[in-house]
Amino acid sequence: MKRVLVAGATGYLGKFVLQEFKKQEYWTRALSRSSAKLETLERYVDEEFIGEVTNANSLKGICKNIDIVFSSIGITNQKDNRTFMEVDYQGNKNLLEEAIKEGVSKFIFISVFNAANMTDLKVIQTKLKFENELKKSGLDYLIVYPNGFFSDMLEYLKMAEKGRGFVFGSGENKINPIDGEDLAKACVNAATGNEKELAIGGPDVFTHNEILAAAFDAYGKKLKITKIPLWIKNSLLGIMRFFTSVKTYGPVEFFMTVLTIDLIAPAYGDHHLRDFFIKNKDKIQVKKNEKIK
Ligand SMILES: NC(=O)c1ccc[n+]([C@@H]2O[C@H](COP(=O)([O-])OP(=O)(O)OC[C@H]3O[C@@H](n4cnc5c(N)ncnc54)[C@H](OP(=O)(O)O)[C@@H]3O)[C@@H](O)[C@H]2O)c1
Repeated sequence: MKRVLVAGATGYLGKFVLQEFKKQEYWTRALSRSSAKLETLERYVDEEFIGEVTNANSLKGICKNIDIVFSSIGITNQKDNRTFMEVDYQGNKNLLEEAIKEGVSKFIFISVFNAANMTDLKVIQTKLKFENELKKSGLDYLIVYPNGFFSDMLEYLKMAEKGRGFVFGSGENKINPIDGEDLAKACVNAATGNEKELAIGGPDVFTHNEILAAAFDAYGKKLKITKIPLWIKNSLLGIMRFFTSVKTYGPVEFFMTVLTIDLIAPAYGDHHLRDFFIKNKDKIQVKKNEKIK
């Protein structure tokens, strides 16, 4: 039986990955910053490991007897005052060092679709910096480049629930977002394959206007869209670059950029965004930042 470490197990993608590894009969170790966060995942976890990736000492022994390390560790909407460099780069590097020390056979890392063409973005720079470490580590590896997750599309559902949607520019840029369960299946299936890179998106391509329309449809509401001119986006980013820290500016820069370019990844999966919206429309009034599965 192969033994896997899932780092990021408490996050949107990591939860599905943990479940898929278990479904495919792996022995699983899950990294978490607290035991409580793993409570709902108990039946998929053979062993917990409590650690904080930015603290290398807390990771000692984490890869002992492990064959495959999977990491979806990264900053998305965490409010713990850490930078991309501290978590996405150094945190993953701390994990990689443990993986090298214990001689694991493969390291799977979650990057971002189209990363190579967005190198001016702070978050992408840290992902690529880690990818370089991974490539020269001597370990077998797989770098996954996923398009936007369904979980991020909840922002559209929130706008629809409030009755007005906002897009930057024309709203006609295209994207094929992917469901966490589909992505997890692709990652776990590729864990024993030979490919080094996997670019992946969901089965349906939408414009941002169409995503908003699907979100309004889920509530049976009439679509109302406000289009924010691109010059406002650019001015806002320019101001933020000077007056806010990377911690604030970085995530905003990333999201404002990916909303205004076409991002169409190779299609995979059978979960559809319209169904996801319908499934989650009644949960949307949950507290801000509460995770929805
Ligand atoms: N969301 C998207 O649309 C998208 C698209 C492409 C790629 N990605 C990338 O995919 C990855 C996973 O995304 P996601 O949506 O699953 O993110 P998520 O739900 O925020 O999960 C991130 C995971 O990383 C953990 N983590 C963060 N900082 C940590 C730290 N200092 N020490 C230990 N654990 C830490 C979190 O633990 P806690 O639960 O303790 O916070 C959580 O388990 C990210 O790297 C993201 O950049 C995301």
